[in-house]
Amino acid sequence: MELPVVQAGMGGGLAGHRLAAAVSASGGLGTIGLLAPAELRREIAVVRALSDKPLAVNLLLPFARRAHFEAAAEADVLVTFWGRPERRTRNVWMHQCGSVQEALEARAAGADAVIAQGCEAGGHVRGSMPAVELLAAVRSAVGEDYPVLSAGGIATAAEVASRLRLGAEAAVCGTIFLMTDESGAHPAYKERLVQARETILTELFGAGWPAPHRVIANEATSRWLRGDPRGPAWLRALHRASAPVLSRAPLTLQLRLAGAQRASRPVFGPAAATADGPPNLIDAGPLYAGQCVERIADIRPAHERVHALVP
Ligand SMILES: Cc1cc2nc3c(=O)[nH]c(=O)nc-3n(C[C@H](O)[C@H](O)[C@H](O)COP(=O)(O)O)c2cc1C
Repeated sequence: MELPVVQAGMGGGLAGHRLAAAVSASGGLGTIGLLAPAELRREIAVVRALSDKPLAVNLLLPFARRAHFEAAAEADVLVTFWGRPERRTRNVWMHQCGSVQEALEARAAGADAVIAQGCEAGGHVRGSMPAVELLAAVRSAVGEDYPVLSAGGIATAAEVASRLRLGAEAAVCGTIFLMTDESGAHPAYKERLVQARETILTELFGAGWPAPHRVIANEATSRWLRGDPRGPAWLRALHRASAPVLSRAPLTLQLRLAGAQRASRPVFGPAAATADGPPNLIDAGPLYAGQCVERIADIRPAHERVHALVP
């Protein structure tokens, strides 16, 4: 990497080859998000054909099977998230963490670096500490020589500079790269992001993955989060009970089920609205975004985002 900027992996087609290739070509580290193993291989091959810059793949551990790890081994870097850290490939391996404890576990398991994710982050939120506090705590716990990257709430070069001063090796950004021409988010999702001023930390879209996630409001959240931003207690209990079965369903089947989601029907999975996916997810699916969405006013080419983030 020439620049200390990493584009976060965003699964289900939000971060595919177009975004990852554009970020890597600009000197940052582009990342392909979770897909079915065959698609993952295809996406990696497309980026490899376009450039010889470093490339990362992100795998969400609740959904990752052996074939995913085999595909991810073709990239230069594997980033894992959400689960017990364990080395599964021989390439560079980073684990995204939400606490000091998790960072220490990842280091002990042989991770080459950790990403400390603050609670202002978009998408699934692992811990409860703001990014700057968690970075400082992880930095001092893992020792000076161990690489720590910082994620959550980064939208400007000044913020990247401040994380680097606190000892981060690089900044990891999701929301600002979601708001690019090259991200796979549905155009209407991008428009909502441009308008958004507030986010909600909820568990509403937890079918198959019962975990807190940060989104902006849509019809589903307006309807179901009146009493409690986490979602109705009965629905969260249902998510927890059904997760062991649902999370093992193939990703292609989960995406097909997502096509049947409606804001009026409280069965909400984690698939997000992509340009080539079912449009019902704009109002019946999660519009993931981090708190920094309020400070990002437009959709831009990814190379402009990378350069605007460099201190
Ligand atoms: C739309 C969206 C989808 C995400 N999907 C994933 C994912 O699939 N895997 C992952 O490790 N992190 C995912 N994240 C979290 C990012 O890795 C990162 O922690 C977060 O984007 C950083 O905060 P920011 O959004 O304020 O930049 C996602 C974030 C967003 C915004």
